[in-house]
Amino acid sequence: MKLLVTGGAGFIGGNFIHDTLEHYPEDTIICVDKLTYAGNMETLAPVMDNENFIFEKADIADAPAIRKIFEKHRPDCVINFAAESHVDRSIDNPGVFLTTNILGTQVLLDASREYDVKRYHQVSTDEVYGDLPLDRPDLLFTEETPIHTSSPYSASKAGADLLCQAYARTFKMPITISRCSNCYGPYHFPEKLIPLMLINAMQDKSLPVYGKGENVRDWLFVIDHCRAINLIVRKGTPGEVYNIGGHNERTNIDVVKTILHQLGKPESLISYVTDRPGHDMRYGIDPTKINNELGWLPETKFEDGLSLTIEWYKNNKTWWQNVLDGEYQKYYEKMYTQR
Ligand code: NAD
Ligand code: DAU
Repeated sequence: MKLLVTGGAGFIGGNFIHDTLEHYPEDTIICVDKLTYAGNMETLAPVMDNENFIFEKADIADAPAIRKIFEKHRPDCVINFAAESHVDRSIDNPGVFLTTNILGTQVLLDASREYDVKRYHQVSTDEVYGDLPLDRPDLLFTEETPIHTSSPYSASKAGADLLCQAYARTFKMPITISRCSNCYGPYHFPEKLIPLMLINAMQDKSLPVYGKGENVRDWLFVIDHCRAINLIVRKGTPGEVYNIGGHNERTNIDVVKTILHQLGKPESLISYVTDRPGHDMRYGIDPTKINNELGWLPETKFEDGLSLTIEWYKNNKTWWQNVLDGEYQKYYEKMYTQR
């Protein structure tokens, strides 16, 4: 199969490319990425010489550029990871979220329709369901939970999902959508909770926990997410939405303390800072459908995945130091100084 993978220089797309080239050696991957602040060619360095891998720098919202890429490569399948992905940035500057996440999806859908791709897969998020209360642990997001968004990020992702469903119905396109919970693992950009806390702790810097740290996220090791997507794309039913999650809910403070513990650093590094506006309280995914229909189950226990991730950050300091040396310093000052 020829897979066109967008956003492959980012966290999940990059892991997906590594894992897919290893496990599906008969496939070819064309990666399309704009290389925003979150895109990193060092993430793709291990596969750049692979003869089944091609990189194209382009913006998914640039219709002529995307059309040219489809004309040149004629993909069988499109998997759209490309997005502005950070909630805090969407609160600071929503515009680019709408352009990339909604208009970019429309451009990809139009090209996929014109070039008759056999499967378009939209990588969505559990954030489209809004949040759940802390005192009702029995409640979980199912694929039937209504869309109910909280941030410009989640609203833009929900807009893209609705567009995919509209194209599937109106144009009878073979589209699938996956909605995954919070991922963690190697190559994760350090604006997100786990890599930010890990890198700060390794440098004996303070760990900025929003509010009281009691918000809950459902953490999944990134490779488990990638394997679920490969199953959906190859065996999933067109027109369907699949939730992906590992029944691994933790409060933020619990995650931060576990990181400190694993690194042998003191809890005195924790600093409670002003909460995120509109902060979602709890995410909890019900993955019964993908388990029943496709046999998917998460394979990595949180403690093992976290140890593996910590080892990766310890052994790949150049990767994250290069990130910290870029635009990141300005971002960190803006978001965290005097918070
Ligand atoms: P990321 O921010 O690490 O990477 C995004 C990638 O998209 C980067 O390489 C960036 O350069 C590229 N990109 C951004 N705008 C682009 C554009 N206009 N054209 C082409 N490329 C562009 O994101 P991530 O955490 O890897 O998330 C990937 C996808 O998975 C997103 O769609 C996100 O909504 C979804 N998702 C993420 C999580 C999570 O926990 N990180 C969970 C569920 C779903
Ligand atoms: O649930 C899936 C979503 O998970 C994805 O769709 C998003 O792309 C991804 O960024 C992630 O969103 P979150 O907002 O849950 O992730 P983040 O890592 O930004 O924050 C996780 C929790 O940690 C959240 O409750 C906010 C809190 N937090 C975050 C940061 C960056 C802190 O307390 N301090 C911080 O410095």
